[in-house]
Amino acid sequence: MKKNLKLKNESQVVPIIGLQWGDEGKGKGVARIASGLSKGDLIVRFQGGNNAGHTIWHDSKCYVFKLIPSGIFGQAQIHLGAGMVIDPFALKRETTTIPKSVSFLNRISVSPHATLVLPTHLILDSIGELKKGTGKIGSTGRGIGPAYTDLVGRNALRVGDIFQNDFQKRYLTLTEQHKKILANIYKYKINQKEWSEKQKNFWEGIKFLRSLAIINSKEIISKTLAKNNKVIAEGAQGTLLDVRFGNYPFVTSSHTIASGVGTGLGIPPSQIGGAIGIFKAYVTKVGEGPFPTEFGGEKSAVWCRDRKFNYEKEIYPNPDLNSPDEFEQGIALRRAGSETGAVTGRLRRTGWLDIPLLKYAIEINNATGLVMTKLDVLDGLKKIKVCTHYLGKKEIPFDLSRTKVKCVYKNFPVWKGKLSDCGNKLPKEALTYIKFLEKTLGVPIIYIGTGPEEHHCVERYW
Ligand code: GDP
Ligand code: IMO
Ligand code: MG
Repeated sequence: MKKNLKLKNESQVVPIIGLQWGDEGKGKGVARIASGLSKGDLIVRFQGGNNAGHTIWHDSKCYVFKLIPSGIFGQAQIHLGAGMVIDPFALKRETTTIPKSVSFLNRISVSPHATLVLPTHLILDSIGELKKGTGKIGSTGRGIGPAYTDLVGRNALRVGDIFQNDFQKRYLTLTEQHKKILANIYKYKINQKEWSEKQKNFWEGIKFLRSLAIINSKEIISKTLAKNNKVIAEGAQGTLLDVRFGNYPFVTSSHTIASGVGTGLGIPPSQIGGAIGIFKAYVTKVGEGPFPTEFGGEKSAVWCRDRKFNYEKEIYPNPDLNSPDEFEQGIALRRAGSETGAVTGRLRRTGWLDIPLLKYAIEINNATGLVMTKLDVLDGLKKIKVCTHYLGKKEIPFDLSRTKVKCVYKNFPVWKGKLSDCGNKLPKEALTYIKFLEKTLGVPIIYIGTGPEEHHCVERYW
Protein backbone atom coordinates (compact mmCIF):
# COMPACT_ATOMS: atom_id res chain seq x y z
CA MET A 1 0.00 0.00 0.00
CA LYS A 2 1.25 3.48 -0.82
CA LYS A 3 2.06 5.40 2.32
CA ASN A 4 1.27 9.07 2.50
CA LEU A 5 2.97 11.84 4.38
CA LYS A 6 1.28 11.92 7.75
CA LEU A 7 0.20 15.18 9.25
CA LYS A 8 0.96 16.07 12.84
CA ASN A 9 -1.27 18.58 14.64
CA GLU A 10 -4.31 17.42 12.75
CA SER A 11 -6.60 19.72 14.73
CA GLN A 12 -4.80 22.72 13.31
CA VAL A 13 -4.00 24.16 9.90
CA VAL A 14 -0.69 22.72 8.66
CA PRO A 15 1.36 25.21 6.65
CA ILE A 16 3.59 23.78 3.92
CA ILE A 17 6.26 26.37 3.36
CA GLY A 18 9.26 26.81 1.06
CA LEU A 19 12.39 27.42 3.13
CA GLN A 20 14.53 28.94 0.36
CA TRP A 21 13.84 31.24 -2.61
CA GLY A 22 10.91 29.27 -4.01
CA ASP A 23 10.76 26.24 -6.32
CA GLU A 24 11.75 23.88 -3.51
CA GLY A 25 9.26 21.26 -4.72
CA LYS A 26 6.23 22.41 -2.68
CA GLY A 27 3.87 21.24 -5.44
CA LYS A 28 5.06 17.67 -5.25
CA GLY A 29 5.01 17.69 -1.44
CA VAL A 30 1.44 19.02 -1.30
CA ALA A 31 0.24 16.61 -4.00
CA ARG A 32 1.64 13.70 -2.03
CA ILE A 33 -0.09 14.78 1.15
CA ALA A 34 -3.29 15.50 -0.77
CA SER A 35 -3.43 11.99 -2.16
CA GLY A 36 -4.08 10.80 1.40
CA LEU A 37 -6.78 13.37 2.16
CA SER A 38 -10.50 12.69 2.09
CA LYS A 39 -13.50 14.61 0.75
CA GLY A 40 -14.03 16.66 3.92
CA ASP A 41 -10.41 17.85 4.10
CA LEU A 42 -9.25 21.16 2.66
CA ILE A 43 -6.23 22.53 0.81
CA VAL A 44 -5.87 26.31 0.71
CA ARG A 45 -3.56 28.86 -0.85
CA PHE A 46 -3.15 31.88 1.43
CA GLN A 47 -0.92 34.30 -0.49
CA GLY A 48 0.64 35.10 -3.86
CA GLY A 49 -0.85 34.60 -7.28
CA ASN A 50 0.21 33.13 -10.58
CA ASN A 51 3.82 34.11 -9.95
CA ALA A 52 3.89 30.62 -8.40
CA GLY A 53 4.66 27.60 -10.56
CA HIS A 54 4.09 24.32 -8.72
CA THR A 55 5.02 21.25 -10.74
CA ILE A 56 3.56 17.85 -10.13
CA TRP A 57 3.64 14.56 -11.97
CA HIS A 58 0.37 12.70 -12.01
CA ASP A 59 -0.21 9.48 -13.96
CA SER A 60 3.10 10.10 -15.77
CA LYS A 61 1.99 13.55 -16.97
CA CYS A 62 3.51 16.84 -15.87
CA TYR A 63 1.29 19.72 -14.66
CA VAL A 64 2.28 23.20 -13.48
CA PHE A 65 -0.18 24.87 -11.10
CA LYS A 66 -0.09 28.60 -10.55
CA LEU A 67 -3.28 29.62 -8.76
CA ILE A 68 -4.94 26.29 -8.11
CA PRO A 69 -3.59 24.31 -5.15
CA SER A 70 -1.46 21.32 -6.13
CA GLY A 71 -3.82 18.86 -4.45
CA ILE A 72 -6.44 19.07 -7.19
CA PHE A 73 -6.04 15.39 -8.15
CA GLY A 74 -7.07 14.21 -4.69
CA GLN A 75 -10.59 14.38 -3.27
CA ALA A 76 -10.13 17.29 -0.86
CA GLN A 77 -11.88 20.65 -1.09
CA ILE A 78 -9.80 23.41 -2.69
CA HIS A 79 -9.83 27.06 -1.59
CA LEU A 80 -8.19 30.20 -2.97
CA GLY A 81 -7.76 32.30 0.16
CA ALA A 82 -8.19 35.94 1.13
CA GLY A 83 -4.47 36.79 0.97
CA MET A 84 -4.15 35.81 -2.68
CA VAL A 85 -4.02 38.06 -5.73
CA ILE A 86 -6.05 36.49 -8.53
CA ASP A 87 -5.84 37.16 -12.25
CA PRO A 88 -9.31 35.96 -13.34
CA PHE A 89 -8.33 35.07 -16.90
CA ALA A 90 -5.23 33.21 -15.73
CA LEU A 91 -7.46 31.23 -13.36
CA LYS A 92 -9.91 30.35 -16.12
CA ARG A 93 -7.06 29.33 -18.43
CA GLU A 94 -5.47 27.19 -15.74
CA THR A 95 -8.67 25.24 -15.19
CA THR A 96 -8.54 24.12 -18.83
CA THR A 97 -5.25 22.30 -18.14
CA ILE A 98 -6.99 19.93 -15.72
CA PRO A 99 -8.16 16.71 -17.39
CA LYS A 100 -11.92 16.50 -17.98
CA SER A 101 -12.06 13.30 -15.92
CA VAL A 102 -11.16 15.26 -12.75
CA SER A 103 -14.24 16.91 -11.30
CA PHE A 104 -13.12 19.93 -9.33
CA LEU A 105 -15.62 22.75 -10.00
CA ASN A 106 -17.81 21.35 -7.23
CA ARG A 107 -14.80 21.35 -4.85
CA ILE A 108 -13.28 24.77 -5.50
CA SER A 109 -14.12 28.03 -3.72
CA VAL A 110 -12.63 31.52 -3.65
CA SER A 111 -12.49 34.13 -0.89
CA PRO A 112 -14.39 37.38 -1.51
CA HIS A 113 -11.44 39.17 0.14
CA ALA A 114 -8.87 38.02 -2.45
CA THR A 115 -7.48 40.87 -4.55
CA LEU A 116 -8.09 41.04 -8.30
CA VAL A 117 -5.13 41.38 -10.64
CA LEU A 118 -6.19 43.71 -13.45
CA PRO A 119 -4.69 43.85 -16.96
CA THR A 120 -3.09 47.21 -16.09
CA HIS A 121 -1.31 45.60 -13.10
CA LEU A 122 0.51 43.29 -15.53
CA ILE A 123 1.59 46.22 -17.67
CA LEU A 124 2.64 48.28 -14.64
CA ASP A 125 4.70 45.32 -13.40
CA SER A 126 6.57 44.77 -16.69
CA ILE A 127 7.09 48.43 -17.57
CA GLY A 128 8.04 49.31 -13.98
CA GLU A 129 10.73 46.61 -14.01
CA LEU A 130 12.01 47.74 -17.39
CA LYS A 131 12.37 51.31 -16.12
CA LYS A 132 14.29 50.16 -13.04
CA GLY A 133 17.08 48.97 -15.36
CA THR A 134 19.90 47.32 -13.41
CA GLY A 135 18.01 47.92 -10.15
CA LYS A 136 15.19 45.57 -11.15
CA ILE A 137 13.88 42.79 -8.88
CA GLY A 138 13.44 40.28 -11.69
CA SER A 139 9.68 39.96 -11.13
CA THR A 140 7.66 37.33 -12.97
CA GLY A 141 5.66 40.12 -14.67
CA ARG A 142 2.33 38.74 -13.46
CA GLY A 143 1.16 41.99 -11.87
CA ILE A 144 1.72 40.76 -8.32
CA GLY A 145 3.53 43.84 -6.93
CA PRO A 146 1.11 46.41 -8.41
CA ALA A 147 -1.95 44.42 -7.27
CA TYR A 148 -0.71 44.23 -3.66
CA THR A 149 0.31 47.91 -3.90
CA ASP A 150 -3.32 48.78 -4.71
CA LEU A 151 -4.48 46.62 -1.80
CA VAL A 152 -2.37 48.37 0.83
CA GLY A 153 -3.01 51.71 -0.89
CA ARG A 154 -6.72 50.96 -0.36
CA ASN A 155 -7.60 51.19 -4.04
CA ALA A 156 -7.89 47.52 -4.96
CA LEU A 157 -10.86 45.68 -6.34
CA ARG A 158 -11.55 42.37 -4.66
CA VAL A 159 -13.31 39.20 -5.72
CA GLY A 160 -16.45 40.10 -3.72
CA ASP A 161 -16.74 43.34 -5.70
CA ILE A 162 -17.51 41.53 -8.95
CA PHE A 163 -21.08 40.97 -7.75
CA GLN A 164 -21.75 44.68 -7.13
CA ASN A 165 -23.68 46.78 -9.67
CA ASP A 166 -20.97 49.40 -9.91
CA PHE A 167 -18.10 46.93 -10.51
CA GLN A 168 -17.58 47.90 -14.14
CA LYS A 169 -17.54 51.60 -13.24
CA ARG A 170 -15.01 51.06 -10.44
CA TYR A 171 -12.91 48.92 -12.76
CA LEU A 172 -12.82 51.65 -15.40
CA THR A 173 -11.92 54.33 -12.84
CA LEU A 174 -9.02 52.28 -11.47
CA THR A 175 -7.65 51.28 -14.88
CA GLU A 176 -7.82 54.94 -15.98
CA GLN A 177 -5.68 55.83 -12.94
CA HIS A 178 -3.21 53.12 -13.92
CA LYS A 179 -3.10 54.35 -17.52
CA LYS A 180 -2.28 57.84 -16.26
CA ILE A 181 0.63 56.48 -14.23
CA LEU A 182 1.85 54.56 -17.27
CA ALA A 183 1.60 57.64 -19.52
CA ASN A 184 2.87 60.32 -17.13
CA ILE A 185 5.51 58.49 -15.10
CA TYR A 186 6.65 55.72 -17.44
CA LYS A 187 5.86 57.54 -20.74
CA TYR A 188 4.17 54.37 -21.91
CA LYS A 189 1.08 54.28 -24.09
CA ILE A 190 -0.86 51.03 -24.32
CA ASN A 191 -1.24 49.58 -27.79
CA GLN A 192 -4.98 49.66 -28.64
CA LYS A 193 -5.11 46.20 -30.21
CA GLU A 194 -3.36 44.61 -27.25
CA TRP A 195 -5.67 46.48 -24.87
CA SER A 196 -8.86 45.20 -26.57
CA GLU A 197 -7.57 41.65 -26.32
CA LYS A 198 -6.74 42.11 -22.62
CA GLN A 199 -10.23 43.53 -21.95
CA LYS A 200 -11.90 40.61 -23.65
CA ASN A 201 -9.86 38.15 -21.60
CA PHE A 202 -10.42 39.98 -18.33
CA TRP A 203 -14.21 39.99 -18.68
CA GLU A 204 -14.19 36.34 -19.71
CA GLY A 205 -12.23 35.67 -16.53
CA ILE A 206 -14.71 37.65 -14.44
CA LYS A 207 -17.61 35.67 -15.92
CA PHE A 208 -15.85 32.46 -14.93
CA LEU A 209 -15.08 33.74 -11.42
CA ARG A 210 -18.78 34.62 -10.95
CA SER A 211 -19.65 30.99 -11.62
CA LEU A 212 -17.51 29.73 -8.70
CA ALA A 213 -18.46 29.37 -5.03
CA ILE A 214 -17.37 32.47 -3.10
CA ILE A 215 -16.79 31.68 0.59
CA ASN A 216 -14.98 33.42 3.44
CA SER A 217 -11.68 31.69 4.14
CA LYS A 218 -12.22 31.80 7.89
CA GLU A 219 -15.63 30.16 7.58
CA ILE A 220 -14.57 27.25 5.40
CA ILE A 221 -11.55 26.58 7.62
CA SER A 222 -13.46 26.73 10.91
CA LYS A 223 -16.11 24.38 9.54
CA THR A 224 -13.49 21.94 8.31
CA LEU A 225 -11.58 21.91 11.60
CA ALA A 226 -14.81 21.64 13.61
CA LYS A 227 -15.56 18.37 11.83
CA ASN A 228 -12.07 17.09 12.73
CA ASN A 229 -11.02 17.23 9.11
CA LYS A 230 -7.58 18.34 7.99
CA VAL A 231 -6.58 21.68 6.53
CA ILE A 232 -3.31 22.20 4.75
CA ALA A 233 -2.09 25.62 3.65
CA GLU A 234 0.06 25.46 0.52
CA GLY A 235 2.69 28.18 0.55
CA ALA A 236 3.88 29.83 -2.63
CA GLN A 237 7.33 31.34 -3.21
CA GLY A 238 9.69 30.82 -0.26
CA THR A 239 10.71 32.27 3.10
CA LEU A 240 13.57 34.32 1.65
CA LEU A 241 11.10 36.01 -0.72
CA ASP A 242 8.84 37.19 2.15
CA VAL A 243 8.12 40.90 1.73
CA ARG A 244 9.27 41.73 5.26
CA PHE A 245 11.58 38.92 6.38
CA GLY A 246 13.10 37.96 3.02
CA ASN A 247 16.06 39.61 1.31
CA TYR A 248 14.28 42.94 0.81
CA PRO A 249 13.93 44.49 -1.76
CA PHE A 250 14.55 41.31 -3.80
CA VAL A 251 11.33 39.73 -2.61
CA THR A 252 7.76 39.18 -3.68
CA SER A 253 4.97 41.37 -2.30
CA SER A 254 3.26 38.95 0.10
CA HIS A 255 3.93 37.18 3.39
CA THR A 256 5.24 33.82 2.31
CA ILE A 257 6.08 32.62 5.83
CA ALA A 258 3.84 30.55 8.11
CA SER A 259 2.55 33.67 9.89
CA GLY A 260 1.10 34.67 6.52
CA VAL A 261 -1.37 31.81 6.95
CA GLY A 262 -3.07 33.81 9.73
CA THR A 263 -3.33 37.13 7.93
CA GLY A 264 -3.87 35.46 4.57
CA LEU A 265 -6.89 33.49 5.76
CA GLY A 266 -8.21 35.55 8.65
CA ILE A 267 -7.71 32.81 11.23
CA PRO A 268 -6.22 33.13 14.74
CA PRO A 269 -2.63 31.98 15.45
CA SER A 270 -4.00 29.27 17.77
CA GLN A 271 -5.42 27.49 14.70
CA ILE A 272 -2.01 27.27 13.02
CA GLY A 273 0.17 24.26 13.74
CA GLY A 274 3.86 23.55 13.18
CA ALA A 275 4.88 23.90 9.54
CA ILE A 276 6.27 21.35 7.14
CA GLY A 277 9.30 23.10 5.65
CA ILE A 278 10.43 22.13 2.16
CA PHE A 279 13.97 22.68 0.93
CA LYS A 280 16.18 21.48 -1.91
CA ALA A 281 19.40 19.56 -1.22
CA TYR A 282 21.09 22.57 -2.85
CA VAL A 283 19.75 26.06 -3.53
CA THR A 284 18.27 27.84 -6.54
CA LYS A 285 16.97 31.33 -7.16
CA VAL A 286 15.22 33.01 -10.10
CA GLY A 287 15.58 36.75 -10.45
CA GLU A 288 17.89 39.23 -8.75
CA GLY A 289 19.22 39.54 -5.22
CA PRO A 290 21.85 38.19 -2.81
CA PHE A 291 22.88 34.52 -3.00
CA PRO A 292 25.93 33.83 -0.77
CA THR A 293 26.57 30.22 -1.90
CA GLU A 294 26.01 30.78 -5.64
CA PHE A 295 28.24 28.66 -7.88
CA GLY A 296 30.50 31.14 -9.62
CA GLY A 297 29.15 34.12 -7.59
CA GLU A 298 28.46 37.33 -9.49
CA LYS A 299 29.44 35.76 -12.83
CA SER A 300 26.55 33.32 -12.50
CA ALA A 301 24.09 36.03 -11.41
CA VAL A 302 24.91 38.07 -14.51
CA TRP A 303 24.87 35.01 -16.79
CA CYS A 304 21.44 33.85 -15.61
CA ARG A 305 19.85 37.29 -15.93
CA ASP A 306 16.83 36.79 -18.25
CA ARG A 307 18.56 33.92 -20.09
CA LYS A 308 16.69 30.85 -21.19
CA PHE A 309 17.61 27.17 -21.13
CA ASN A 310 18.13 26.60 -24.88
CA TYR A 311 20.54 29.49 -25.19
CA GLU A 312 22.70 28.10 -22.39
CA LYS A 313 22.55 24.61 -23.88
CA GLU A 314 23.94 25.89 -27.15
CA ILE A 315 26.84 27.70 -25.49
CA TYR A 316 27.57 24.97 -22.91
CA PRO A 317 26.48 21.66 -24.47
CA ASN A 318 28.31 19.41 -21.97
CA PRO A 319 29.12 21.13 -18.67
CA ASP A 320 31.11 19.07 -16.17
CA LEU A 321 29.41 18.51 -12.81
CA ASN A 322 32.82 18.13 -11.19
CA SER A 323 34.56 20.96 -12.98
CA PRO A 324 37.11 22.86 -10.85
CA ASP A 325 35.36 25.99 -12.17
CA GLU A 326 32.29 26.42 -9.94
CA PHE A 327 30.56 28.54 -12.57
CA GLU A 328 30.59 25.54 -14.93
CA GLN A 329 29.58 23.25 -12.08
CA GLY A 330 26.58 25.51 -11.49
CA ILE A 331 25.54 25.13 -15.12
CA ALA A 332 25.90 21.36 -14.90
CA LEU A 333 23.77 21.22 -11.73
CA ARG A 334 21.15 23.43 -13.40
CA ARG A 335 21.10 20.97 -16.29
CA ALA A 336 20.90 17.93 -13.98
CA GLY A 337 18.05 19.45 -11.95
CA SER A 338 16.22 20.99 -14.95
CA GLU A 339 16.41 24.27 -13.11
CA THR A 340 14.48 26.65 -15.31
CA GLY A 341 11.63 28.79 -14.00
CA ALA A 342 8.25 27.02 -14.18
CA VAL A 343 6.52 30.39 -14.86
CA THR A 344 8.94 32.46 -16.92
CA GLY A 345 11.36 29.85 -18.30
CA ARG A 346 14.34 31.84 -16.96
CA LEU A 347 17.50 30.07 -15.81
CA ARG A 348 17.49 29.41 -12.08
CA ARG A 349 20.75 30.40 -10.40
CA THR A 350 22.30 27.48 -8.48
CA GLY A 351 24.38 27.17 -5.32
CA TRP A 352 25.36 24.93 -2.40
CA LEU A 353 23.03 24.41 0.54
CA ASP A 354 23.19 27.37 2.92
CA ILE A 355 22.63 26.28 6.53
CA PRO A 356 22.53 29.76 8.12
CA LEU A 357 19.66 30.76 5.80
CA LEU A 358 17.93 27.40 6.25
CA LYS A 359 18.08 27.66 10.06
CA TYR A 360 16.65 31.16 9.85
CA ALA A 361 13.79 29.86 7.72
CA ILE A 362 13.10 26.91 10.05
CA GLU A 363 12.90 29.21 13.06
CA ILE A 364 10.76 31.87 11.48
CA ASN A 365 8.22 29.28 10.30
CA ASN A 366 8.26 26.95 13.33
CA ALA A 367 9.02 24.09 10.93
CA THR A 368 8.58 20.91 12.93
CA GLY A 369 9.14 18.52 10.02
CA LEU A 370 11.31 18.91 6.93
CA VAL A 371 11.13 17.65 3.38
CA MET A 372 14.37 17.61 1.41
CA THR A 373 13.84 17.42 -2.34
CA LYS A 374 16.13 16.76 -5.29
CA LEU A 375 18.83 14.83 -3.44
CA ASP A 376 19.08 12.71 -6.63
CA VAL A 377 20.32 15.76 -8.55
CA LEU A 378 23.58 15.44 -6.59
CA ASP A 379 24.17 11.96 -8.15
CA GLY A 380 27.51 11.96 -9.93
CA LEU A 381 29.17 14.70 -7.89
CA LYS A 382 32.56 13.82 -6.38
CA LYS A 383 31.78 15.81 -3.23
CA ILE A 384 28.88 17.75 -1.77
CA LYS A 385 29.64 21.08 -0.12
CA VAL A 386 27.45 22.65 2.53
CA CYS A 387 27.85 26.17 3.92
CA THR A 388 27.84 25.67 7.70
CA HIS A 389 28.25 29.33 8.70
CA TYR A 390 29.29 32.79 7.57
CA LEU A 391 32.78 33.70 8.78
CA GLY A 392 32.66 35.88 11.90
CA LYS A 393 28.87 36.27 11.83
CA LYS A 394 26.53 34.71 14.39
CA GLU A 395 23.38 36.07 12.78
CA ILE A 396 22.13 36.67 9.25
CA PRO A 397 22.91 40.33 8.50
CA PHE A 398 19.83 42.60 8.48
CA ASP A 399 20.38 43.47 4.83
CA LEU A 400 22.04 40.60 3.01
CA SER A 401 21.72 42.49 -0.27
CA ARG A 402 24.18 45.14 1.01
CA THR A 403 26.46 43.03 3.22
CA LYS A 404 29.12 40.69 1.85
CA VAL A 405 29.46 37.44 3.78
CA LYS A 406 32.16 34.77 3.49
CA CYS A 407 30.81 31.24 3.48
CA VAL A 408 32.59 28.44 5.35
CA TYR A 409 31.97 25.00 3.85
CA LYS A 410 32.04 21.37 4.98
CA ASN A 411 32.50 18.55 2.45
CA PHE A 412 30.61 15.27 2.24
CA PRO A 413 31.36 12.15 0.18
CA VAL A 414 28.82 11.17 -2.49
CA TRP A 415 27.16 7.81 -3.16
CA LYS A 416 27.73 5.75 -6.29
CA GLY A 417 24.93 5.26 -8.80
CA LYS A 418 21.46 6.80 -8.99
CA LEU A 419 19.28 7.48 -5.95
CA SER A 420 16.16 6.98 -8.05
CA ASP A 421 17.22 3.32 -8.39
CA CYS A 422 17.66 2.82 -4.63
CA GLY A 423 13.98 2.46 -3.73
CA ASN A 424 13.50 2.97 0.00
CA LYS A 425 17.08 2.13 0.96
CA LEU A 426 19.31 5.15 0.72
CA PRO A 427 23.08 4.62 0.41
CA LYS A 428 25.14 5.21 3.55
CA GLU A 429 26.74 8.38 2.16
CA ALA A 430 23.28 9.88 1.58
CA LEU A 431 22.26 8.94 5.13
CA THR A 432 25.41 10.55 6.55
CA TYR A 433 24.51 13.78 4.79
CA ILE A 434 20.86 13.59 5.93
CA LYS A 435 21.79 12.82 9.56
CA PHE A 436 24.28 15.69 9.63
CA LEU A 437 21.55 18.05 8.44
CA GLU A 438 19.02 16.76 10.97
CA LYS A 439 21.50 17.19 13.82
CA THR A 440 22.56 20.66 12.72
CA LEU A 441 19.04 21.86 12.00
CA GLY A 442 17.43 20.12 14.98
CA VAL A 443 14.37 19.02 12.98
CA PRO A 444 13.60 15.60 11.46
CA ILE A 445 13.67 15.21 7.70
CA ILE A 446 10.51 13.21 7.12
CA TYR A 447 10.69 12.83 3.38
CA ILE A 448 13.52 12.78 0.83
CA GLY A 449 12.91 13.48 -2.85
CA THR A 450 14.79 11.11 -5.14
CA GLY A 451 13.29 12.14 -8.48
CA PRO A 452 10.48 14.27 -9.94
CA GLU A 453 7.72 11.68 -10.13
CA GLU A 454 5.17 10.70 -7.49
CA HIS A 455 6.93 7.47 -6.49
CA HIS A 456 10.39 9.11 -6.24
CA CYS A 457 10.56 9.58 -2.50
CA VAL A 458 11.79 7.97 0.65
CA GLU A 459 9.69 8.46 3.75
CA ARG A 460 11.26 8.25 7.20
CA TYR A 461 10.06 8.01 10.80
CA TRP A 462 7.05 5.79 10.22
P1 GDP B 1 7.58 24.57 -6.28
O1 GDP B 1 7.38 25.92 -6.88
O2 GDP B 1 8.16 24.63 -4.91
O3 GDP B 1 6.34 23.71 -6.31
O4 GDP B 1 8.65 23.85 -7.17
P2 GDP B 1 8.72 23.84 -8.79
O5 GDP B 1 7.64 22.95 -9.29
O6 GDP B 1 8.77 25.21 -9.33
O7 GDP B 1 10.16 23.25 -9.01
C1 GDP B 1 10.53 22.02 -8.49
C2 GDP B 1 10.97 21.13 -9.67
O8 GDP B 1 11.66 20.01 -9.14
C3 GDP B 1 9.82 20.56 -10.47
O9 GDP B 1 10.24 20.44 -11.81
C4 GDP B 1 9.59 19.19 -9.87
O10 GDP B 1 9.06 18.24 -10.79
C5 GDP B 1 11.01 18.81 -9.51
N1 GDP B 1 11.16 17.94 -8.34
C6 GDP B 1 10.49 17.98 -7.15
N2 GDP B 1 11.02 17.09 -6.29
C7 GDP B 1 12.05 16.50 -6.95
C8 GDP B 1 13.03 15.52 -6.57
O11 GDP B 1 13.08 15.03 -5.45
N3 GDP B 1 13.96 15.19 -7.54
C9 GDP B 1 13.96 15.73 -8.79
N4 GDP B 1 14.90 15.35 -9.66
N5 GDP B 1 13.05 16.65 -9.16
C10 GDP B 1 12.13 17.03 -8.25
P1 IMO C 1 6.97 29.26 -6.45
O1 IMO C 1 5.66 29.27 -5.70
C1 IMO C 1 10.69 31.28 -7.41
C2 IMO C 1 10.59 35.65 -7.56
C3 IMO C 1 10.78 36.32 -8.90
C4 IMO C 1 11.43 37.63 -8.46
C5 IMO C 1 10.71 37.94 -7.15
C6 IMO C 1 9.53 38.91 -7.30
O2 IMO C 1 6.91 28.54 -7.74
O3 IMO C 1 8.06 28.82 -5.56
P2 IMO C 1 7.07 38.73 -8.30
O4 IMO C 1 6.60 38.32 -9.66
O5 IMO C 1 6.52 37.91 -7.20
O6 IMO C 1 6.92 40.20 -8.06
O7 IMO C 1 8.68 38.48 -8.33
O8 IMO C 1 10.23 36.70 -6.67
N1 IMO C 1 9.50 34.65 -7.52
C7 IMO C 1 9.70 33.33 -7.46
N2 IMO C 1 10.84 32.61 -7.50
N3 IMO C 1 9.51 30.65 -7.25
C8 IMO C 1 8.36 31.36 -7.17
O9 IMO C 1 7.18 30.80 -6.86
C9 IMO C 1 8.42 32.77 -7.32
N4 IMO C 1 7.50 33.76 -7.31
C10 IMO C 1 8.17 34.91 -7.43
O10 IMO C 1 11.61 35.57 -9.75
O11 IMO C 1 12.78 37.40 -8.16
MG1 MG D 1 7.91 26.98 -8.60
